[in-house]
Amino acid sequence: MTVQGSQRFTGRLRVPGDKSISHRALMIAAVGRRPCTIRGLSDGDDVTRTRQAVEALGARAEDRGSGEVAVAGGLAGAPGPICLGNSGTGIRLLAGLVAGYPFTTTLDGDASIRRRPMDRIIEPLSAMGASVRGSGASGTLAPLAVEGCPLQGIEYTLPVASAQVKGAVLLAGLRAEGPTTVHEPAPTRAHTEEMLATAGVTVERKDGSVTVWPGEVEPPRLIGIPGDPSQAAFWLAGACMAPGSDLTVENVYLGPARGGFIDVLARMGADITVDSDSGDIRACTSELRATRVTADELPGCIDEVPILAVAAAAAEGVTVFEGIGELRVKESDRVAAIIEMLKVLGAESEIEGEALSVAGVGRLGGGTVDSHGDHRMAMAAAIAGAAGPGSIAVEGFEATATSYPGFARDLHHVTGWSP
Ligand code: S3P
Repeated sequence: MTVQGSQRFTGRLRVPGDKSISHRALMIAAVGRRPCTIRGLSDGDDVTRTRQAVEALGARAEDRGSGEVAVAGGLAGAPGPICLGNSGTGIRLLAGLVAGYPFTTTLDGDASIRRRPMDRIIEPLSAMGASVRGSGASGTLAPLAVEGCPLQGIEYTLPVASAQVKGAVLLAGLRAEGPTTVHEPAPTRAHTEEMLATAGVTVERKDGSVTVWPGEVEPPRLIGIPGDPSQAAFWLAGACMAPGSDLTVENVYLGPARGGFIDVLARMGADITVDSDSGDIRACTSELRATRVTADELPGCIDEVPILAVAAAAAEGVTVFEGIGELRVKESDRVAAIIEMLKVLGAESEIEGEALSVAGVGRLGGGTVDSHGDHRMAMAAAIAGAAGPGSIAVEGFEATATSYPGFARDLHHVTGWSP
């Protein structure tokens, strides 16, 4: 797909339901003891895989029209291996969810998933008494065989700030004996604990730690899913960069550790405003300047680094992203993929330890960018193409379907451009 440049980003837009919340809504409903309707589920492939997974495990999910899915919980074990596609969140959270059930579950995914580290969940789940056998020489890769065992609550300090690992441990804690506490080195998205609390689970949140007590899950009758801030970020950054833009993304989730990109863009001089009642975020064309994103704030904008790197390329001065090590183990090696993309955009970048610096060029260059099968790289490159003066051919554009099947349609909606 080649995206023609010099587009303006205007009007109003709704993005898909938040992906992180969608996964958790399905899982919580799947173990719930009363039926639950989910409204606004993400239509991305990742979430579809999680829906298929919980159905394979025994929950029932039924489309009710107007974007509503009714779920009746109850897990009985899957007849065969479950494939979570490209979804790190899906495979890691599910491993925790099923670890205390009396059946064995095999969890697998695509080639990217099979490269991603699973020791980060195997270690704490094993400490709880779970039996999780990984594959590969190290035994730490997918596919994972999770053999249900009686679990013991633990107190666990995350070695890396990861909401997926926190979520896996807390979900396992639902069926453990005694409380389970997770301490985190930096705040990560809080969806698991937020959503368990609304499902009647006893949850205690303190600065830097969260504890859950085992118990029944009583999901709310209706879980409404707000728009995904990580998807909104693409359009809002595009509006900041492209001349003549004025764009509003409606009904975006504004909870903890998800809006870091708004702070970063604001520091870069972006004309960006948030309506905290409606969740609407408006961005207009801005003169962007460099900033420093610290290691502490990085987990709060971890998925937005590809598009923030594009904004950094369009800014004046040298922007630094600290603590970017985790990006090497995302859907692709995003550090390498970002550096490759920045080269096409004409921006010089440098890696020093865990810090990436990007020298802004103002006017973005054009050419061909390889998504490496990574949805966020594909969308970042497409926005760079639309916002810059040239055009960008995005190889592997179809990866957008992982989280945002309607991305090309929405690109047309906000810019008027069609392929
Ligand atoms: C997610 C957590 C983040 C994020 C991912 C979704 C989640 O991963 O990158 O897209 O829903 O918990 P890590 O927790 O591994 O950083």
